[in-house]
Amino acid sequence: TMNLQSRPALLLASAFFLCLWARRRLRPPSGSPPGPFAWPLVGNVLQLGRLPHLTFCKMAQRYGDVFQLRLGRRAVVVLNGEAAIRQALVRQGEQFAGRPDFPSFRLVSGGRSMAFGRYSELWRAQRRLAHASLRAFSTASGRSLQLLQQHVAAEARELIRGFLRRGAGGAYFDPCPLFTVANANVICALCFGQRYSHDDGEFRALLGRNDKFGQTVGAGSLVDVLPWLQAFPNPVRSVFRDFQALNQELHDFVRAKVAQHRRTYDPRLTRDISDAVIGKIEQGGGGAQEGLSRDYVEGTMTDIFGAGQDTTSTALCWVLLLLLKHPHLQRQLQAELDRVVGRDRLPTAEDRGCLPYLEAFIYETLRFSSFVPVTIPHATTADVVLQGFRIPKDTVVFVNQWSVNHDRHKWKDPHLFDPGRFLDGEQKLDRDLTCSVMIFSMGKRRCIGDHLSKLQIFLFTAILLHQCTFEANPAERLTMDCIHGLALKPLPFTVSVKMRDTPRSCQAGDAQ
Ligand code: HEM
Repeated sequence: TMNLQSRPALLLASAFFLCLWARRRLRPPSGSPPGPFAWPLVGNVLQLGRLPHLTFCKMAQRYGDVFQLRLGRRAVVVLNGEAAIRQALVRQGEQFAGRPDFPSFRLVSGGRSMAFGRYSELWRAQRRLAHASLRAFSTASGRSLQLLQQHVAAEARELIRGFLRRGAGGAYFDPCPLFTVANANVICALCFGQRYSHDDGEFRALLGRNDKFGQTVGAGSLVDVLPWLQAFPNPVRSVFRDFQALNQELHDFVRAKVAQHRRTYDPRLTRDISDAVIGKIEQGGGGAQEGLSRDYVEGTMTDIFGAGQDTTSTALCWVLLLLLKHPHLQRQLQAELDRVVGRDRLPTAEDRGCLPYLEAFIYETLRFSSFVPVTIPHATTADVVLQGFRIPKDTVVFVNQWSVNHDRHKWKDPHLFDPGRFLDGEQKLDRDLTCSVMIFSMGKRRCIGDHLSKLQIFLFTAILLHQCTFEANPAERLTMDCIHGLALKPLPFTVSVKMRDTPRSCQAGDAQ
């Protein structure tokens, strides 16, 4: 009997020591950030959940703002909260400005991507070039601003026509695909001097593949950390194959446009961003001396077009969803527009300073949705120490922007949607507070499209609210739940649209 009783005890004891041994073997070296126990082979992959940024917030409560996990065999350091993120991305900017050497990153923009490229002298030259060219055709001067406004106003008018067609007779329809085309058209006009019809099947198909992109490069993506998943058929492998195909397709689209521009290039007339980039790299503009060869034209243009086409439209989907959820805010915004702009003209960028409530609403939408919850993954470029923890060179770093925007110490009741939080006692916009919403990242990798997209979101929202009233579909429950990728997208919802100025007798449903 003695023998029989001791056997389970012995088994238990050996299991215990085995666990201890495994734990020690798999434990990060001393001085690394703390974090959850990582399982062999998968690490913490199974703990990420459907919305990794929320899991990261929970883990941060337990382990602190700088913690470490393991995805597959990769160590990943996760940064939470403004202090830790600023300390890394701004004060130790160079050391945290890298990108991981993920296989998927090498497929973007024909391997000549700035956004997914590693930190180097060449990268710096490419970023300067992309940034300057984008600015020259968007917000740099009064003239470029004027042109941008014309594009946005034209797309907004087209959008409203599309809304009225789809919503004829009070019908409910999904507005988000129209936002995608409208926004892609603005960026396409800036990049290539061209726009597409909402009925253009090929253009829509090209844009429709965006979600797959985000699912591959977003923080919860597994394709790069579990390489063995490439060996047999499974959902992760098919996401990766779709990713290869869509990158090829986007790059081909851009290559054809660039080829056209090369054929018709005229140094006396810079028509759009493509011309500007060609001028700098191929026509003695200094890019070549900095080591940027010809194929960086296509790489850079794919970056700008790729990053710009769907982010801003996702913001507009959240704007609209939140307007539907808060109809009284919609009425207040319309009242502000009517007071400041009047009914005789459309709102313009010059009205921005006089529409604090609309600005506050947009910032609250960015904060509350935090629809880019985690930035594109970073990597360290050298051995660094952060908040006393050692992080070796080439460690993957996730930056949790959501944690900044939902920090209870920073925002009162962060889970409530309240544009009023951005207004001071005199109903003026609190600039310090709007600056502390983090959605474009910070430091050396900060988004280069921030000014452009904020202006675009402002103009589209202002024009749409000035012209239309949006109503929710009573048969649907509006939820903040979302589809996860690099960007969070609302679950599909439908609206009905009414023109505000149409005479009553013409309005759908009022015919009698
Ligand atoms: C509301 C819209 C947008 C949001 C929320 C957004 C957000 C971001 C974020 C979070 C990053 C990653 C930063 C990091 O890794 O730390 C990024 C990078 C980037 N964005 Fe945006 N973006 C938006 C619109 C745009 C637009 C319109 C363009 C261009 C026309 C653009 C171009 C880029 C580029 C080129 C990068 C790569 C920067 C680098 O790696 O150095 N973005 N953006």
